[in-house]
Amino acid sequence: MTTPIFAIANQKGGVGKTTTAINLSACLVERRQRVLLVDLDPQANATSGLGMPKAEGGSLYRLLLAGGDVRAQIRPTAYRRFDLIPSEVDLAGAEVDIVMARDYLHRLGGLLRPLAETGEYDQIFIDCPPSLGVLTMNAMTAADALLVPMQCEYYALEGVSTILRIVEQIRTTGANPRLQIDGVVLTMYDARTKLAQQVVVEIFQHFGDRVYESLIPRNVRLSEAPSYGKPVVVYDRHSTGAVAYRRLAREFLKRHPRPAADGEASPPGVSEPEGLDGVQPAEAAAPAPAPAGPSEPDAAAPAAEPPAGAAGGAE
Ligand SMILES: Nc1ncnc2c1ncn2[C@@H]1O[C@H](COP(=O)(O)OP(=O)(O)O)[C@@H](O)[C@H]1O
Ligand SMILES: [Mg+2]
Repeated sequence: MTTPIFAIANQKGGVGKTTTAINLSACLVERRQRVLLVDLDPQANATSGLGMPKAEGGSLYRLLLAGGDVRAQIRPTAYRRFDLIPSEVDLAGAEVDIVMARDYLHRLGGLLRPLAETGEYDQIFIDCPPSLGVLTMNAMTAADALLVPMQCEYYALEGVSTILRIVEQIRTTGANPRLQIDGVVLTMYDARTKLAQQVVVEIFQHFGDRVYESLIPRNVRLSEAPSYGKPVVVYDRHSTGAVAYRRLAREFLKRHPRPAADGEASPPGVSEPEGLDGVQPAEAAAPAPAPAGPSEPDAAAPAAEPPAGAAGGAE
């Protein structure tokens, strides 16, 4: 079965693309999916956020220009069934250099499609840079569908028409007729502000049921986890951020069911998968330190339930 490819794109920076790429991937891996994450941003935040080195020659740069077997750049992460194609600063050169190449909008697709056809992964995600340049366009021609993270703030919808127009162009010019907008992921939601609630209503009005009901709350653990090189479900398994991304993964699998490759896939109804394999399990399962000190702002957070309204009724 061919692996679906999802590009995580929004030309705005800081809207939660990389956070969603890392944590949705990790939560799907927890549900026994086999995931490949492609870091297509020269800033390499997904690479460092997974604790992987930014090594010279470690990005897709050379393959994007010269072609070849994409497997050469796939690296295993610290977690079983979770692989990464890392990035490093070299990739910035691709933005300029690929334009000289024949078929320059299809370089990434040319690398990923043969891999997708083998079906050895359940999902392939591409973490795009914050622009609509050649790299993002390559992601859009390679992908079956887009996931668009949007921050719940006043200007969220600004720029959306641009991305919609580009999707339409990519479809109608034949560059990628199958491209769909799979969904909008609402990030950094703060249930305490009226503004965030208004923005959510507006985005639902605009995108309807393409919006994922699982809202991602603003949560300091989500912003801390990358500096420890860990997905939030490993860094602080019971944080509201971890709960929210687990919920999103469950909703994602309901939309995109995958047959269990090994008979072990955790069905969407299971709310608490066991965690990521291959990490130090003691660390992953360690209880949060008891008294919350100044550097442990969420340590005493309740273990199970997100705050009311922080997740939109995916239960
Ligand atoms: N839900 C969230 N709560 C708190 N901080 C977040 C959340 N999502 C992302 N962040 C932080 O916001 C910043 C931008 O997020 P990031 O995922 O890197 O955005 P992008 O990839 O779109 O540029 C990062 O510092 C990240 O840790
Ligand atoms: Mg990013």
